[in-house]
Amino acid sequence: MSGEELLKIKELKVHYYTAKGIVKAVDNVSLELRKNQFLSIVGESGCGKSTLAHAIPRLVRPPGKIVSGNIFFENKDLLSLSDEDIRKIRGHRIGFVFQDPFTSLDPLERVGDQISEVLIEHLKIEKKDAKERAMELLNEVGLTEDRYNYYPHQLSGGQRQRVAIAIAIALRPSLLIADEPTTALDVMVQSMIMDLLQSLIKKGMSIFFITHDIALASERSDEIAIMYAGKIVEQGQTSRIIAEPMHPYTQGLMAATPDIWERKNVTSIPGNPPDLANPPKGCRFHERCRFAMEICKEKEPPLISLKGRKVACWLYSDENGRDN
Ligand SMILES: Nc1ncnc2c1ncn2[C@@H]1O[C@H](COP(=O)(O)OP(=O)(O)OP(=O)(O)O)[C@@H](O)[C@H]1O
Ligand SMILES: [Mg+2]
Repeated sequence: MSGEELLKIKELKVHYYTAKGIVKAVDNVSLELRKNQFLSIVGESGCGKSTLAHAIPRLVRPPGKIVSGNIFFENKDLLSLSDEDIRKIRGHRIGFVFQDPFTSLDPLERVGDQISEVLIEHLKIEKKDAKERAMELLNEVGLTEDRYNYYPHQLSGGQRQRVAIAIAIALRPSLLIADEPTTALDVMVQSMIMDLLQSLIKKGMSIFFITHDIALASERSDEIAIMYAGKIVEQGQTSRIIAEPMHPYTQGLMAATPDIWERKNVTSIPGNPPDLANPPKGCRFHERCRFAMEICKEKEPPLISLKGRKVACWLYSDENGRDN
């Protein structure tokens, strides 16, 4: 792992063992994240984004299981750490923010005390010092100190999400995983939370951001990885992907994104993502793809490097997986 790399996921498989069968939610995913990088994972509902995010700090719950692969983080192999060691990494080195901060905040406790508690528990500092530090954290996420004494229900959705971010960054993790943190918020508030996440990059953090909104991802991230049916289908520098999306699924996501300036026609991708307990043979996108060829129904396309990104599509690969 090079010095700049923070996270390296290799051939990761995460399955859910359900009555319906084995749901291959993350199927052979490889990804890298460098220090001070903002990476967005983009895809429709049910394509495995949250499962991938939860797998990093080993928070996949039964019936889910990490089946194989590697996750290297700060030069540690997370999948081979003891339960105690992985607990030390959670919060300390890897922070999380989820879609609905109501689920992570205690409704009966003042938000400031919730931040302080994290500091007291993990840093073993005095209550007074923790309170001072919690006030600083509130400032850091754009809230005034008087919010310390508020209960979650007294805050707006955006303010609650700021508190959740303050808790997530309280121990100065190097990686912040944010799983659709702005989905429940209106566009203006969403934009402010995105500004806040971006500001954390300057403070030495890397962001692993999950969204179904390719426009939102394109505004902020350095890199985008497009996920479809448990697999990464295209990945690379945001500017390249947006200027020239190559995978028909990426093209579909972009065509489905409204653009108020260009007033273009918005076209949605026909159909739905497949059932991951029983995915189609070949390319998992072929049933919805307007370019589908015979080979797409039979054989899975390899992820190849082309035009400064990785892409898995038979339009660009020959039988042997070499570039056209
Ligand atoms: N606890 C579970 N038990 C069984 N199957 C699950 C479980 N959690 C997720 N799955 C399945 O795994 C697949 C991926 O789900 P996941 O939640 O990771 O997708 P997602 O991309 O985060 O979707 P969304 O955008 O709706 O949050 C889906 O087919 C889902 O039904
Ligand atoms: Mg999700």
